[in-house]
Amino acid sequence: MRYLTFALTKGRLASRTLDMLERLGITCEEMKDKNSRKLIFTNEELKLKFFLAKGPDVPTYVEYGAADIGVVGKDTIIEEGRKVHEVLDLGFGSCRMCVCGYESAAELLQHHELIRVATKYPKIAKDYFYNKKHQTVEIIKMNGSIELAPIVGLSEVIVDIVETGSTLKENGLVVLEEVCPLSARMIVNPVSMRMENDRIKKLITDLRTLIRSDQEQ
Ligand code: PRP
Repeated sequence: MRYLTFALTKGRLASRTLDMLERLGITCEEMKDKNSRKLIFTNEELKLKFFLAKGPDVPTYVEYGAADIGVVGKDTIIEEGRKVHEVLDLGFGSCRMCVCGYESAAELLQHHELIRVATKYPKIAKDYFYNKKHQTVEIIKMNGSIELAPIVGLSEVIVDIVETGSTLKENGLVVLEEVCPLSARMIVNPVSMRMENDRIKKLITDLRTLIRSDQEQ
């Protein structure tokens, strides 16, 4: 039996995924040692390997087959546009991609003004404004703390993730439009899906059953 390799998004998504896998009896003791500098962890018994990666790199590892399976946010899947199969909504990490700004910017959106849009997600922003809204805008790619952009006058609006809404609220900003809902997803390399179909299908089925039973409670 060959190893199945998982690429998990570092941070909360990885912890939540490992908790879920543990409930299915899939553990990786090696990964629990917080002082370890190891980059890849193995479960010899189940022939599984796990590694942690930055979100945008997860679909890349999966497309090239360096990982068979990945866990990553839907935002990153859309933005990266890699050739991977999205097989399961894991039900956690729920949030929304939104157009946000000062309340006063609502008018600019309504009148399809040529505005500036700051975002970490230029592809999602472009698709939303150009293809869905048919509004010409100037998109400015940023790398974090996007909420600063309207505050300091870099852009009229932002396209960003809203989870609790507290970052917006504390900065006097509001959600102006919703682009799409988001959550953590499982992705699979298309060749692995064919070659390791039984093992991967079983994992998806077991996870789906677990998610359903959690939702029913
Ligand atoms: C994300 C997102 C918002 C914030 C939303 O940023 O970009 O800034 O979380 O969360 P809230 O609605 O619960 O306040 P993150 O903390 O990932 O860092 P970043 O600003 O560097 O992208």
